[in-house]
Order: sequence, then structure tokens, then C-alpha cells
Amino acid sequence: MTWVPKDMVSAEIAFSDADFRAIAAIAQERFGLNLAESKKPLVYSRLSKRLKARNLNGFPEYLKLLNQADETDERQELISALTTNVTSFFRENHHFETLTSECLPALAAGARARQRVRLWSAGCSSGQEPYSIAMSVLDQFPEAANHDVRILATDIDPQIVGRARTGSYPIEEATGIPAAYQTKWVRKADGGGRITMGEPLRQLITFAELNLMDPWPFKGPFDVIFCRNVAIYFNQQTQQNLWQRFCQMLTPGGYLFIGHSERITGPATQKLSGVGITSYRKALARSGTSAH
Ligand SMILES: C[S@@+](CC[C@H](N)C(=O)[O-])C[C@H]1O[C@@H](n2cnc3c(N)ncnc32)[C@H](O)[C@@H]1O
Repeated sequence: MTWVPKDMVSAEIAFSDADFRAIAAIAQERFGLNLAESKKPLVYSRLSKRLKARNLNGFPEYLKLLNQADETDERQELISALTTNVTSFFRENHHFETLTSECLPALAAGARARQRVRLWSAGCSSGQEPYSIAMSVLDQFPEAANHDVRILATDIDPQIVGRARTGSYPIEEATGIPAAYQTKWVRKADGGGRITMGEPLRQLITFAELNLMDPWPFKGPFDVIFCRNVAIYFNQQTQQNLWQRFCQMLTPGGYLFIGHSERITGPATQKLSGVGITSYRKALARSGTSAH
């Protein structure tokens, strides 16, 4: 059946069930995204803009293009079109409270004793999450930059990683940042219309493009992983594999924070215990055994 939305400017472009299934298969295979039938209007509205931008006559032509080896940029446009980047500073603030009260005191003590401390914002979108982590770290541990403390911030979407790196946001977003943190690390820019993240925050964070479905180009381990409101777009098997991989990447006793509508299921439940709302902790290794 060919489906054409009634009220869209681009209604002249037909979008068949077969076209949708082919796009859904690419999204699943390459990015782990689970595009339910109900997403068809959204997919149509976002991708018909790409067809226009590339001057294409229909979805079959677009699908052919996506499979060409030299169309990396178009595949990246596809990711940007299909993913949702909604985020905010200190979103689901209870995770930052747990970070501050339960994780950071021990991590700061470890760092002062020359241990390596690593935190990861996986699916960081435009960066508000890793900058919120950096503010929490510096508030507890102002000299963190003089120690081996790093925050890795990754996302599949190169455009959004570019935005995160700039650390520049509309001034309205500042309301999500505690006033004391704003005074210390947030600067007003562009005549007061925008805010920028201060240098001490940036120094702690490394931004990188990473598809969580691909092999991860680092060994870890991480003391804390935030992967919030990302796995919600994956099917159950993909989610379970991801939880298991995060579990292997965590230090014994390390923390995993996930989104408000996500739950840990599958083999990872054997090693991760709930320690609060959508907050999990990996079992501490018993002496003589490996926790991985
Ligand atoms: C809704 S945002 C969540 C941002 C932030 N974690 C938060 O909770 O506010 C979801 C992010 O996941 C990213 N994403 C989706 N699929 C991904 C994948 N396979 N690998 C890495 N990131 C992915 C999207 O690009 C998007 O920026």
C-alpha cells in the first residue's frame, strides 16, 4: 500500500510500506534503532526533506543512494533525521544527586591517591549531560583537572557532537543550571543571548562520535556510565546486549544511570543491582574472582 500524508507540503512524494520497511531495516542494522509502524509519518516528514535537498524523485532512489559506499554523509544525515536529541542540563536530577552523594566522594579520594577515574556520557546529544557531569565533578573536586579524571562524551550523530563541542546554548537553557554553578562556570555570550561553557568544564570532557552498535575503540573501564534515553529507541535484544556491554565496561562497584522509561533486563541483571530510580551498581569483585 502506498501511503501519502494528507496535509504535508511534500505530499507529492509517495512513501510505500516497502519503502518504510527498507528504511526501518537500515535503521535497525546500522544504528540499532527500532522504527515502529507508528513512526511512519515522522520518518516521512523528516526524510522527504532529504529527498528534496538531494533533488531525488522518490524513496527507491533515496534507498539506492544510501547503499552507495561513497554516501557516508547522507547516511549521517539519515541518523540525524531519525534520532531525537531532546536533552537538558541536570535532566533527571536524582542521578546527579546520587553521583554527588554516592560516587564522587570515593572517586575524588581515589584520584587524589593517583587512581584513574573515568565517566562516560553515552548518547550525549548536544552536551548538556556531560557538562552537567563536569559541573558536579568540579563542585566536589575542584582540582580534578590536575588528576587523571576524564569524562568521555559520545553520540552517533556527528552534527550533534559538533554542537556539543561548541558548548554554546540559548540563554533560556541556563535555568536548568544551579545558580552557584552558573557563577563559577557559565559565561554569557552574544550580547547575553547565549551562554557558553567555561574552560574548566571543557578541559575535563573528550567528545567523540560513536555508534553504540559498533565495536568500542577503548578498553575502559569506567567508574560511572550515563546512558539515558538512548536505549529506549532499540529493540529488547539490542538493549540487553548493550546493558551487558556496559556491565563489562564498568569497574567493580561502578554505577550505570539509565533513562526514566528504561529498565535493565537480560544477563546484566545478574551483575547490576538497583540502587535508586533507574540507577544501578555493579557488584564488587570478590577477592580472587574477576567481576567482568
Ligand atoms: C534523547 S537523546 C538523550 C540525550 C541525553 N542522554 C539525555 O538523556 O538527556 C538520545 C541520543 O542518543 C543518540 N543515539 C541514538 N542511537 C544511537 C546509537 N546507536 N549510538 C549512539 N548514540 C545514539 C541520539 O543521536 C541522541 O543524541
